[in-house]
Amino acid sequence: MKLVLNIWRQKNSNAKGKMVRYELANVSEHMSFLEMLDVLNEELTAKGEDPVAFEHDCREGICGCCGFMINGVAHGPQPGTTVCQLHMRHFKDGDELWLEPWRAKAFPVLKDLMVDRSAFDRIIRAGGYVSVSTGSAPDGNAIPIEKQKAELAMDAAQCIGCGACVAACPNASAMLFTSAKVSHLALLPQGQPERDRRVLSMVAQMQEEMFGACTNMGECEAVCPKNIRLENIARMNREYLRASWTFREEEAVAGGG
Ligand code: SF4
Ligand code: FES
Repeated sequence: MKLVLNIWRQKNSNAKGKMVRYELANVSEHMSFLEMLDVLNEELTAKGEDPVAFEHDCREGICGCCGFMINGVAHGPQPGTTVCQLHMRHFKDGDELWLEPWRAKAFPVLKDLMVDRSAFDRIIRAGGYVSVSTGSAPDGNAIPIEKQKAELAMDAAQCIGCGACVAACPNASAMLFTSAKVSHLALLPQGQPERDRRVLSMVAQMQEEMFGACTNMGECEAVCPKNIRLENIARMNREYLRASWTFREEEAVAGGG
């Protein structure tokens, strides 16, 4: 099939970007979207032109590296699918596509379709882990966990940190990502010792990174390739309130109030 691609080209964070039009023939319906871009890049390189920069690693939908807007939709038209797992059979011969990087103040464009998502790393560094010594791996089922809680925790743990939720949100909010990480650990016994500190610290970091506030638009859930649910945001809000009250009570006791 033949395609017309309008791709955002920007040399670096400080340069002014613009859309550039490319025509690509001989695209196989069996190619993934990134393989189609590989073909374009081979053609550009052969002509001595700068290839289009885009992020990728696993190409299996598990690492969270890839992602950009296709015709205004984060990760493109297939629900629950990362752009590396999107195949060209979902497009038609002669289609014209517009590819743009994630647009958010907290995700500055590095080059073309690549953005700097280190703000997400700093949110994780603020508390998205278990730092208490848990010893070696315990026997299976040594700590009984209710089935429903285990399933909810595993659903939240599927977040791959791609950033599509931020890109789709009119407020560029990172609530779906942060709440997935908070939920995952808050639901499991291993997450309990640092539960309060974790949510307060991660939310504070999220605000420091200049992500916007959540106004319940739901765009994040609609584009999330891992189907992370909005209920995680509600859980994070409850966790945050609970932790705030606990800290206030502790401060009052420490101050003799
Ligand atoms: S919540 Fe979904 S869209 Fe957001 S970073 Fe995680 S996997 Fe990506
Ligand atoms: S390249 Fe790893 S999720 Fe797409």
